[in-house]
Amino acid sequence: MSALIEFQNVCKYYEMGDTTVVAADHISFQIQRGEFVAIVGSSGSGKSTCMNIIGCLDVPSEGTYLLDGRDVGGMNKNELAEIRNELLGFIFQQYNLLPKLNLLENVEVPLMYAGISRSERRERAEAALGMVGLEEKLKHKPSQLSGGQQQRVSIARALAGEPAVILADEPTGALDSRTGREVLSLLQQLHAAGNTVVLITHDNTIAVQAQRIIRLEDGRVVYDGPSDAPDAVVTPRVAGTGGGAA
Ligand SMILES: Nc1ncnc2c1ncn2[C@@H]1O[C@H](COP(=O)(O)OP(=O)(O)OP(=O)(O)O)[C@@H](O)[C@H]1O
Ligand SMILES: [Mg+2]
Repeated sequence: MSALIEFQNVCKYYEMGDTTVVAADHISFQIQRGEFVAIVGSSGSGKSTCMNIIGCLDVPSEGTYLLDGRDVGGMNKNELAEIRNELLGFIFQQYNLLPKLNLLENVEVPLMYAGISRSERRERAEAALGMVGLEEKLKHKPSQLSGGQQQRVSIARALAGEPAVILADEPTGALDSRTGREVLSLLQQLHAAGNTVVLITHDNTIAVQAQRIIRLEDGRVVYDGPSDAPDAVVTPRVAGTGGGAA
């Protein structure tokens, strides 16, 4: 079986007047089904660039991105939206919950767009909110929850779509460290339950919670291996000038 996610020499260039910023510089890796991978790097290293490509929000300038064996590079906007809905569940730093809707309804909204029947929407939303430990609060509004609980709703919303990949971009960025740890341990549980999780973070202490680390520097992969290896976590260089465009 082919890899779930495969980058083959992926490059991303941004034209800035006369200069070209190289945000991704021949990045190659494979992520198999069931892995928990952190993509880590300092500011400007290319994390969001990779996240946007993995999440089918953008396509490579050069190289090939295969998602579940399908070449994403040649897809148009509609095809990208389709594959996104089919295969990806997003978790962002901002929870993006709808304040007027209760938790069940918040989780159901994307399922409605996906054309899933009313009864199945309700079933899936209840199950997903149960998985994140919010079964007692189904009728609450987001404003009645703590930050960590709101992030768990957004995780439930991602899960309810039964995605092949859960893509989490700085999911603990808005949380205090204890609540952040709870959210991370929830991601670990989802991984243990068989989900594929890709976590984007600038924070080494968060990255080491994954099973594998892909470290980026200046748009290149400088480490790819187990998170508990001695060289998985390096002291970031003190970059006086910043990367890329600076
Ligand atoms: N739309 C754009 N136009 C021009 N340059 C860009 C654009 N987006 C990103 N870049 C540049 O590409 C490089 C990588 O940016 P990217 O956003 O991927 O970094 P990052 O690792 O996500 O950083 P941060 O931790 O600050 O979010 C940087 O040098 C950035 O300035
Ligand atoms: Mg970023």
